[in-house]
Amino acid sequence: MKPAEFKRRRTQLMKMMGKNTIAILPSASQLTRNRDVDFPFRQDSDFLYLTGFNEPGAVMVLMPGRKHGEYVLFCREKDQDQEIWHGRRAGQEGAVADYGADDSFPIDDIDDILPGLLEGTDAIFNIMGRYPEFDKRLIGWVSHIREQSRSGMHVPSEFISLDYTLHDMRLFKSREELRLMRKAAAINVKAHQLAMQTCAPGKHEYQIQAEFDYQFGKNNAQHAYPAIVGGGANGCILHYTDNNDVLNEGDLLLIDAGCEVQGYASDISRTFPVSGKYSSAQKEVYEIVLAAQYAAIKKVKPGNHWNDPHNAAVRVITRGLAEIKLLKGVPQKLIKDQAYRKFYMHRTGHWLGLDVHDVGDYKVGDQWRLLEPGMVLTIEPGIYIAAHSKGVHRKWWDIGVRIEDNVLVTKGGHEVLTEALPKKVEDIEALMAGAT
Ligand code: GLY
Ligand code: MN
Ligand code: MN
Repeated sequence: MKPAEFKRRRTQLMKMMGKNTIAILPSASQLTRNRDVDFPFRQDSDFLYLTGFNEPGAVMVLMPGRKHGEYVLFCREKDQDQEIWHGRRAGQEGAVADYGADDSFPIDDIDDILPGLLEGTDAIFNIMGRYPEFDKRLIGWVSHIREQSRSGMHVPSEFISLDYTLHDMRLFKSREELRLMRKAAAINVKAHQLAMQTCAPGKHEYQIQAEFDYQFGKNNAQHAYPAIVGGGANGCILHYTDNNDVLNEGDLLLIDAGCEVQGYASDISRTFPVSGKYSSAQKEVYEIVLAAQYAAIKKVKPGNHWNDPHNAAVRVITRGLAEIKLLKGVPQKLIKDQAYRKFYMHRTGHWLGLDVHDVGDYKVGDQWRLLEPGMVLTIEPGIYIAAHSKGVHRKWWDIGVRIEDNVLVTKGGHEVLTEALPKKVEDIEALMAGAT
């Protein structure tokens, strides 16, 4: 992504902050995995959105209207020895030349410099609670100024949450963001296709997961969240990630996996038969979920509200479950009593972007938010019938189905970004039959 896009975002945010204010946002930290081994570094999504700077040990400071520069980036100094061992650093020169900072200082000098930047401002925009250690330091810097207020120092009197403004910006995807999300979707579609083609009884869930590891890796994409690869009963565990069981003939396999490209996620679920052909019971349940998904996607258009797709999915699922006698009663009453929750216990989707469960409010006041062009969400209804469910015939046991696509709200309605991946029974069976 070009530096101009990050600059545009900072400018937009600063316009909303107003004069005499300051925004302070730390980067993510490098986390230890075990002893002296670190987890792969993943930048904080808000920090990445505003800076494009992908190093730990950094703090972004925005000061709208400041004559000596509105954007200051604290970051690690260049260090030949450290860079030989651990990799390149932008340093202060790079922060200015390559990342558009007006000024940059070593992160180790922040205690000396930041109080001076805070002094004279009226309000501090920050995200309280995400990095408690950093919050403590920030409060320490403010206290330091307060101690000197008798010598005329002006203490900022207000902390304002950065979340509301920033997260509303992130909810609406730009052309460039959509380009990356389409790319993530395409890589993920390909991986899901290969998973369907290589699946066979006797293989293990982790072997199927390896298709995703490889496809994501060779496209310079990362898992956006731990892949869920659950055969049979494991498909009924919503956040199953052990992925270490053998896949049995006659079982379904539920895969919920997604990659991110430059931080932008895709999030797809498909459920298919391990041996390539759905049993009649599996097919009956699958068709209900698929019909629910189509009905929900149809409701994605400007002017409809956030809950419309969910309500549509619930109606189709409840009617379907009543038809196959897994729920007994009149659909209208079953919906009112939320009887469907025994088999459909999650919601139909979430915002999607730099975080897989992306930021952005779902309600404005007590009203569901209206859908607007540029928003991206998932549509992911499911039915999960655990074995030994009370009053449920054993032919339904261990059928867990989720179908999930990524949907962009457009002016005229919607675009399914993950459309290319088969989900009709006959299309999945045909794809799997062609496997070599
Ligand atoms: N993969 C997490 C979700 O579907 O929400
Ligand atoms: Mn998912
Ligand atoms: Mn999802």
